[in-house]
Amino acid sequence: MAGGTGAGLVDGAGVAERFDPFGDAYQQDPPAALAEARRHQPVFYSPLLDMWVVTRYHDIKAALHDSRRFTAANALEPITPLGAEAREVLDGYGFAPGPVLVNEDPPRHLPRRKLLAPPLAAPEIEPLEGRIRDLVTGYIDAFADRGHADLIQDLVWEVPAVVGLLVAGVPEEYVAQARGYAVKMGLFTWGRPTGEHQREIADQVGRWWTLAGELVDLLRREKGTGWIPHAIEMQREHPDVISDNQLQNMMMSGLVAAHETTTNATANALKCLLTQRDAWTALCADPSAVPNAVEESLRHSTSVLCWRRRTRAAVTLGGVRIPAQSPVLLMIGSGNHDADVFPDPERFDIHRPNAKRHLSFGIGSHACLGAPLARLEMRIILEELTRRPPGLRLVPGTTFTYPPNASFHGPLQLPVEWD
Ligand code: HEM
Repeated sequence: MAGGTGAGLVDGAGVAERFDPFGDAYQQDPPAALAEARRHQPVFYSPLLDMWVVTRYHDIKAALHDSRRFTAANALEPITPLGAEAREVLDGYGFAPGPVLVNEDPPRHLPRRKLLAPPLAAPEIEPLEGRIRDLVTGYIDAFADRGHADLIQDLVWEVPAVVGLLVAGVPEEYVAQARGYAVKMGLFTWGRPTGEHQREIADQVGRWWTLAGELVDLLRREKGTGWIPHAIEMQREHPDVISDNQLQNMMMSGLVAAHETTTNATANALKCLLTQRDAWTALCADPSAVPNAVEESLRHSTSVLCWRRRTRAAVTLGGVRIPAQSPVLLMIGSGNHDADVFPDPERFDIHRPNAKRHLSFGIGSHACLGAPLARLEMRIILEELTRRPPGLRLVPGTTFTYPPNASFHGPLQLPVEWD
């Protein structure tokens, strides 16, 4: 059933059969693992996943722009189906999230997005710079005298979780408790957890779902500021557009959307920069290059490797006919390495002129609403780490490990030392 482009039947032989988004080759270098597909069989059927895989920039962009022929309804479905026991655990918590923005289609999606988007827009987010910088310097102060740190555990796991909760409007006194639920939920949607592991995560997800509901109730009683208080206000004005279930779901999945994505993106950026010493040195000498370095690292090593759609009717994409009702895996990380758009794509170049054309935040009607916040956090973290500690470098001999995950991608540790 593998789709072919005609031209690639010889060179691209076996591409579809070899594709394993949980395998080590893909985890170590996802765009490289799809280089042959991009060249010879850019759209193919994966028998392992029972999904159609799309690897080239313009095909991915076309699908993301086309909400008429592609539904987003499957965006949050676990890629590894949940076992009966995990489902039972979730049922015990009354876990029943309906569609939230990212898996909603027209005509409902856009009116809701318009009501919910304003607090995450750049003019609202930029004034948070001082507060985020204080938070970042506080974490760096805590390890600055130590001479070594794990930048994941000591910094980039923490900052996006706390910032995400504050931006959501969670009162400061509840942040520590809610932060405890900032667990690796990406594993649930995109990983390959075993039955036992699924049950553990289901328990965490169920608890966080419950607390998310309680936090929404609290914010309803005590008016605050932030994304959820704004959404509560919008619900008062438009009860037909925003439901209670959506508020609870926004609180719960908003943390996942804001946290692991940004943690991994920052970790990937630091890995790119610290393994390519000339880029790090250039950035230390000229911090004005940080914003483009952020874009180049999002392009080169995105934290969201793929995203999903399903065809509503039969569609031809990249010359390949995809049947109706087929799940489609849009390989964002691969599209970001398409040589037709990004010359010499494997090269990490903090001065790349078109780095910002990457697909890492999606594109079109569902484009990431948190992009201004993610960019701000990444910029501040890079600015602060290039300023101090002096001579920051990776611990010699460091190798990087990744938990098997088809989409959420970032190293588990980033051990560094300094003078
Ligand atoms: C580097 C960090 C991030 C990456 C790589 C990322 C990536 C994405 C992607 C790929 C999508 C789906 C786009 C589509 O379906 O076309 C998305 C949607 C979304 N993201 Fe992000 N995201 C990041 C950070 C954030 C943050 C910090 C927040 C919240 C503050 C956030 C909130 C959202 C929301 C609400 C949507 C749904 C928009 C809609 O469907 O209308 N994201 N993001």
